[in-house]
Amino acid sequence: MGIVEEDIARVRAATDFVALVGEHLALRKVGTRWTGLCPFHAEKSPSFSVNAELGLYYCFGCGAKGDAISFLRETEHLDFVEAIEKLAARAGVTLRYDDDATGGGRDRQRRNRIHEALEAAVQWYHECLLTSPDARAARGYLRRERGYDGDVVRRYRIGWAPEGWDRLVRGLGVPPAVLVDAGLATVDEKGRYTDFFRGRILFPIFDPGGRPVGAGGRMLPGGRLPKYKNTANTAVYDKSRTLYGLNWAKRAVVEKGRVVVCEGYTDVIGLQQAGVEEAVATCGTALAEGHIKQLTNFARRIHLAYDGDSAGQAAAEKFYEWEKRYEVEIRVIGLPAGDDPADVARRDPAALTAAVDEARPYLGFRLDRLLARSDLSTPEGRSRAAGSAVAMIGAHPDVLVRDQYLMDVADRCRVDADRLRAMAEAGPVDAAPEGRPAPSRDPRRPDPPPGPSPAETPAVGLSGPELEALRLAVHRRDEVVGRLERPLFSHVLAANAFEVIRATADLHQAIEAADPQVAGLLQRLAVEDSDADPDDVAIRLVERAVQRELRELQSEMRQLPPAEQASYAPTITWLKLGLERMRADDVTRHAQAVEAEEHLVAWLVERHAVDPAVTGSMM
Ligand code: UTP
Ligand code: MN
Repeated sequence: MGIVEEDIARVRAATDFVALVGEHLALRKVGTRWTGLCPFHAEKSPSFSVNAELGLYYCFGCGAKGDAISFLRETEHLDFVEAIEKLAARAGVTLRYDDDATGGGRDRQRRNRIHEALEAAVQWYHECLLTSPDARAARGYLRRERGYDGDVVRRYRIGWAPEGWDRLVRGLGVPPAVLVDAGLATVDEKGRYTDFFRGRILFPIFDPGGRPVGAGGRMLPGGRLPKYKNTANTAVYDKSRTLYGLNWAKRAVVEKGRVVVCEGYTDVIGLQQAGVEEAVATCGTALAEGHIKQLTNFARRIHLAYDGDSAGQAAAEKFYEWEKRYEVEIRVIGLPAGDDPADVARRDPAALTAAVDEARPYLGFRLDRLLARSDLSTPEGRSRAAGSAVAMIGAHPDVLVRDQYLMDVADRCRVDADRLRAMAEAGPVDAAPEGRPAPSRDPRRPDPPPGPSPAETPAVGLSGPELEALRLAVHRRDEVVGRLERPLFSHVLAANAFEVIRATADLHQAIEAADPQVAGLLQRLAVEDSDADPDDVAIRLVERAVQRELRELQSEMRQLPPAEQASYAPTITWLKLGLERMRADDVTRHAQAVEAEEHLVAWLVERHAVDPAVTGSMM
């Protein structure tokens, strides 16, 4: 497949795994490990755990597990080699290849070139804005009309794409074909290259890790329409999941547990400057499922700073579905009619932050709007309003939610709640506000999102000192592995896990060598804490193993004729004495306790060497 094996290990060792995972979800430190919301399934409380030292993750919710390579592959849809190359680039490791001419290799090289071209172009446009004489009008516009000072321009790396046909193509020093791949230039049938952005202020768009992936370009007042031109989809840019501003917002999103989604680049900047740091925007598209998926890595509450009414009924149905499927809560921020967040941010930042806090569930928001513009002063008006409201409410999939809104509408329209319920159950009402009947919804849950299957629970019945001993073997290998032996583990899975740990040099090798069940157990243990005392664990383990054997010896003994039973006595006595010695916690007898433990373990090994079948017995 290409990359020299040894280099893969170097990449793994050089990767800051917590920083890598932190680019995709928020991690909090709990004891010696890190936890966060699992990026592989929808959840509200964190079951995703990371062991920083070993570079491993495990999700207690869905069973997702792996290392830096599998994490990148899953989250960024990369193949194995791509993932390693990306990690190598981050960690500054130079890779060596066995064979370089694979199709996958060409694809990756192409993507890397695109990223490099975008980075160079973002810088080039930015310097144009800051220093170029022909950017004077743009600088004036940003300062006067937008209120952006130098700090804002630099923070958002805002740029200026100069007028002319091919200033970037000629000036950047990147092969024009790469600029085409990056969405920064176009080529006509005669092979002439033209800049994609000309005479526009540029808002570069970054991925959550801060790498540029595209840009949005705004015309100056009086310039060429359209008002905004956005990068078309490229190998590194997908507008149905990209969110402008997420690279700056993600920390605040995680801290506040919510994200504010708006429509425009200038809205993000306005919101963030007004203190709503958790603001992001879709890039010239409607909010799509891909955006929601991306956001679930960071927060579960999504406040929309869109024009709430224009989204309408079709949006409502999408939102309800996403709320269920991704366990998110979508709310709408009420802004004065005709204002967008950027306007309010400049005029009245306090009102903006208040509006963000007071966001309402989408259905409640739309009902308020509906009732506000209805004539509630006459019985006829109230009945019309109630009919429209019932249609709106009927689209919500949750019967309890529907019922609460129905009662609220009944109150406000002064009609009988039971009558409204009957109307709602009767289905489509002809007074539906968007001119279409409320669809009858299947109240059952939609299909669960695709993803890893639920965790198999490989370690059923495995607990107590055996599990603790394995934890220690994983985390503090040198302190325990040497003094433990297979017969101390009564659980086959535990015994196998111990064997593979002992037989390999480190946990990565152990996981690779183990069968899937054992590998799963090791991955899980890697992200669990252990503050247990190795002495204590070993003693308990030996005790339990010896007691198992004692029970067995005694039952063997009882099956013998009385005359032969006596032959068991010395062994039984010796074992019991050994247990007593080992348990002694008096400091002066410590050496004796250690010795007793060693002798007991040696005896266990010998006994099991004779009768390997006992090894596999389950408790
Ligand atoms: P707006 O027209 O509201 O622009 O479009 P804006 O962000 O408020 O910009 P200003 O304040 O007038 O400068 C909102 C978003 O819709 C997309 C852009 O992403 C824009 O940020 N849009 C708008 C386009 O993609 N193309 C357009 O022609 C207009
Ligand atoms: Mn605007």
